[in-house]
Amino acid sequence: MEGQGHHHAQGHHDHDHGHHHHGHGHGATELNKEYFDEQAKTYDEKHAKTLGQLIEEIRKRVEFIGVDWVDEDESETEDEDEEKKKAKDEKRVRLLDYACGTGVVSRALAPYTTQCVGIDLSEGMAAAYNARAENQGLSPSEMHAYQGNLCDPTDPNPSTFDKPEFQDFDVAAIGLGLHHFDNPPLAIQRIASRLKKGGVLIVIEFLTHEKPETDHPAIATVTHHGFSESQMKKMYQDAGVAEGFALQEVSDVVFNKGGSQAEFKRRVFIARGSKA
Ligand SMILES: C[S@@+](CC[C@H](N)C(=O)[O-])C[C@H]1O[C@@H](n2cnc3c(N)ncnc32)[C@H](O)[C@@H]1O
Repeated sequence: MEGQGHHHAQGHHDHDHGHHHHGHGHGATELNKEYFDEQAKTYDEKHAKTLGQLIEEIRKRVEFIGVDWVDEDESETEDEDEEKKKAKDEKRVRLLDYACGTGVVSRALAPYTTQCVGIDLSEGMAAAYNARAENQGLSPSEMHAYQGNLCDPTDPNPSTFDKPEFQDFDVAAIGLGLHHFDNPPLAIQRIASRLKKGGVLIVIEFLTHEKPETDHPAIATVTHHGFSESQMKKMYQDAGVAEGFALQEVSDVVFNKGGSQAEFKRRVFIARGSKA
């Protein structure tokens, strides 16, 4: 998450087309890697309130997201026939949590899935994600993150992820990651390609907002000041994941609550669409 002072429209670039590239040739990737590596150890503590709020907002919307989730309440009953029981035991719901950070989206959806696979540009973030998963007593086959970048235009198929275990996901999510990417439409396409047919892409993001006027170092990691519903819909359509596209605004999310930087509220949405 980024720091922010007060709103100011001055010097604001118009990113209405969602295809903003930095003109100077080297995008935000290195800056993100560096910044989030440094943030990884304190991220959960610093953003505890915000992350708690996000988990709540995500869980409120499991129906809206519309995946055929593992039903945690469906406890086994005595008279259940064998076949049904077997089908339930074999049911797999695999989540790809892209730009996973310390794993807030994975933690929100873990009760409804059988496996969470995280990928993050920052080695430190992947390590923090894995430390938490381990602390919760989860095995790597249940919850594990890898360092990587699926949005590198020069590397369409990174060898680390060229394996069946990184394909055919039932659901993929990008949680507050898209505004850090150089090329969001490309990212959406790359993540969508990892979904099985009928799989669901979730994007959690800021609605379009003014460029914050701040000298906080996080600002250099931000490429887009939020997204509009129409920008999102277009990216979903272009990536073939716009079946049943829908976007819901969640209640204002508070950032830096109780932290050392100025607290601010921002409008956040959750979008979903299925792969045709
Ligand atoms: C604001 S954090 C969000 C983390 C987490 N999803 C959450 O909601 O708390 C943004 C994350 O995006 C990661 N990131 C930035 N650029 C990336 C890229 N090109 N590929 C993968 N992850 C990236 C950063 O390392 C950071 O962990």
